[in-house]
Amino acid sequence: MKVKVCVGSNCTLLGSMSILDQIDDLRDIISEDPDSYNDEELEVEAIKCMGFCKNTDKEIAPVVVIDDETMINATGQAVMEKIVKKIRK
Ligand code: FES
Repeated sequence: MKVKVCVGSNCTLLGSMSILDQIDDLRDIISEDPDSYNDEELEVEAIKCMGFCKNTDKEIAPVVVIDDETMINATGQAVMEKIVKKIRK
């Protein structure tokens, strides 16, 4: 699974660093209980402005892309839930 977290200025201001931290914590939780999760690798990439915040007046930050699914106004909890749903056995 590929998780891209936007760390451009808009997304950072609205909490993308804390989402990155929470994904790190989730990694630890997974490694402590490997039997409950499939062994799909969790690839995390921090990307400087994915461009979603340009050309829009709407508040969309923070942006996280999980595989091909884009989450706008992402929260740590929503991101964790999505990841866990995908990798839980
Ligand atoms: S700063 Fe995140 S999409 Fe632009």
